[in-house]
Amino acid sequence: MRVILAPMDGVLDHLMRDLLTKVGGYDLCVTEFVRVVDQLISDRAFFRYCPELKNANAYGCTTQAGTPVRVQLLGQHPTCMGDNAAKVIELGSHGVDINFGCPSKMVNNNRGGAILLKDPENLYQIVSAIKKSVPEDAIVSAKIRLGYEDKSLAIENAQAIEAAGANELTVHARTKVEGYKPPAHWQWIAKIKQSINIPVIANGDIFSVADAQKCREISSCNDIMVGRGALMLPNLAQVIKQVAPALPWYKVQALLLDYTECETYGDKSKYYPNRIKQWLKYLKLQYREADELFQEIRILKTTEDIINKL
Ligand SMILES: Cc1cc2nc3c(=O)[nH]c(=O)nc-3n(C[C@H](O)[C@H](O)[C@H](O)COP(=O)(O)O)c2cc1C
Repeated sequence: MRVILAPMDGVLDHLMRDLLTKVGGYDLCVTEFVRVVDQLISDRAFFRYCPELKNANAYGCTTQAGTPVRVQLLGQHPTCMGDNAAKVIELGSHGVDINFGCPSKMVNNNRGGAILLKDPENLYQIVSAIKKSVPEDAIVSAKIRLGYEDKSLAIENAQAIEAAGANELTVHARTKVEGYKPPAHWQWIAKIKQSINIPVIANGDIFSVADAQKCREISSCNDIMVGRGALMLPNLAQVIKQVAPALPWYKVQALLLDYTECETYGDKSKYYPNRIKQWLKYLKLQYREADELFQEIRILKTTEDIINKL
């Protein structure tokens, strides 16, 4: 079984990827989406989203713990997506992932993300352009939702992605309109899996070992992807693989301090107060102590005050 760390824009940046993959159990990370409009993106911009690419020649594109990292692209123009995919592969990304699930109004209004699920032909054109642009052995994966307004095209969309040559498909088991509202419809992943032959990765609402077992059973998928669950329980992948118990709170505290050291040192320090509060909001769903800590730092505005409290 593979447990893949989900792409999460504004949350799972390279520091968080480093931290969580050091905890262990994750087999692959996918970056936050990189928006492709109508131009070739600069190396510098790719390095900003995926600093792991900088050392890719020497060590492969991995986190510090050695977990492979795959760049995700979001865009609608097949040729331009193809050119940028070729570039990320050349820079050393472990394959390229295509975002067909983003629900953001702004992104959808510009014809990117989940809106593309309205016509399987869109998906086919983009995936085949990417497949033609990258070396034959490069992995091209796509990440979809079950549809935009409804699920009527779920199977056709998956089949279009397979027919265009994708190597694997992740399914977030909800439509765009369903947003993040529970439940995730894992039985729909099984329907998709039955209709295509490439590996399917199940995603959506896996927060515990019981969820993982149930999702794998219902979806009949081997591999799963976890996002919010990994923020609630940092060693969720190890817990799911049954190689470790849930991380005790004192170890989570140590992670919070590591995170603080990294986030306040690098170029993203201005985001630190919001980021640490955002992470605590997830952690408090699993740890009572995180809730107490969150209440204490909630009103603090400066990095210094928050560090003192921690
Ligand atoms: C804050 C946030 C940011 C996200 N950013 C991305 C993204 O950049 N690309 C993507 O494909 N999915 C993105 N997603 C969706 C997740 O990858 C995942 O499909 C979704 O959260 C369901 O999985 P989970 O229940 O394990 O969190 C995002 C989700 C959240 C909550």
